[in-house]
Amino acid sequence: MTSRRILTRLAGAVTPDPARPWAVDFIEDAAIASEGGRIAWIGPRRELPAAWRDAPEVDGGGRWAAPGFVDPHTHLLFGGDRSREFNRRLHGETYAQIAEGGGGIRETVRATRSATVEELVALGEARLAKYRAKGVVHLEVKTGYGLELEAESRLLEAYAALRARGWSLDVTLMPAHDIPAEYLGRPDAYIEDVASAWQPELVRRHPGVARFCDVFVERGVFTPEQGRRVLESGKALGLRPRIHADEFCSTGGAELAAEVGAASADHLMFASEAGIRAMAAAGVVPTLLPATTLFLGMKDYAPARAMIQAGCRIALASDFNPGSCACIDPLLVLRLGCLQMRLTFEEAFTAMTLHAALSLDRPDLGHLHPGAQDRVLLWDVKHPLDLVYWMGEAYQPAPAFHG
Ligand code: NIG
Ligand code: FE
Repeated sequence: MTSRRILTRLAGAVTPDPARPWAVDFIEDAAIASEGGRIAWIGPRRELPAAWRDAPEVDGGGRWAAPGFVDPHTHLLFGGDRSREFNRRLHGETYAQIAEGGGGIRETVRATRSATVEELVALGEARLAKYRAKGVVHLEVKTGYGLELEAESRLLEAYAALRARGWSLDVTLMPAHDIPAEYLGRPDAYIEDVASAWQPELVRRHPGVARFCDVFVERGVFTPEQGRRVLESGKALGLRPRIHADEFCSTGGAELAAEVGAASADHLMFASEAGIRAMAAAGVVPTLLPATTLFLGMKDYAPARAMIQAGCRIALASDFNPGSCACIDPLLVLRLGCLQMRLTFEEAFTAMTLHAALSLDRPDLGHLHPGAQDRVLLWDVKHPLDLVYWMGEAYQPAPAFHG
């Protein structure tokens, strides 16, 4: 890790610039110097400082270097799958109707509760290997398919085990992902137990594992008041809020995110104009999930352009989960950002790197400027635009420095 190396023989390097939030540099014939696992210098090869000229070289093989993608919204660990429910939706039932009939999230909860920690870790490793092969170097991962103290605790144990095996994860506590069967019709009682008993107990049992807390604020799930209770309790424990907000209708989730100082508000297909302005003013990162919109067969993608115009720095994420987005494919998310949300390549790429890292308070990820981790990927493309332009290609990058 302490070795000095230079990545050369690159077609180029593409990176957002943390000093200029929406600017992306395309540096042809670039070189990248790395020392102690961090980027020390980046620029055109002919400008490489003399002090680096004798450092050992890594051959970029004529490919394009880019920062690894960061995925700031996943539900990585769950048991079972919901392919039958998916077909019910194709036959005409809605996501909400299926959930009201006891399916949906609650079906996954049953399967997750019956999984052991070892089984959860094995599922997690297989999924993380797919993410890595497709260029994601860091993920946010949520609990929320346990919905009882012991099952949520096993999910945290599994995430801690995955981190101990070297996977780069930020963990979010989300027991308020849905109302479990035991509390049906009693959402206030559930929220009170989560806020006053479970969150403190989970943080006590698993110190340092979770950095964030999250809640599903939506009509028929939790109200903004219930969301506020969970997030304020999380804040008192040192967890930074994130929110599932305004996914199916506008319930004031974006406004709540601004009020509690959330790191991110996610989904936001139906965020109000006032909510967008409030997020911009409070520095909340709207984290948009276009593959979920696609998978749910909805037509209204989140209003990314309005958010950018309001001054928000948006992120894009996968929302990988068994019900509303059974998909590990960062290039699909990038392509939907461009093709459905009408983001430029530079905007969508920044949203999946620099701003995704911003939503996780990780200035060391999502770019290739000095100080960033040297988790550089090599893409075998003529130009980074190919990643979107050749929209059917399953490009897979290679790590430049790590193996
Ligand atoms: O982010 N919106 C809530 N949670 C998930 C869906 C969970 C499920 O259907 O299992 C989401 O889309
Ligand atoms: Fe989600």
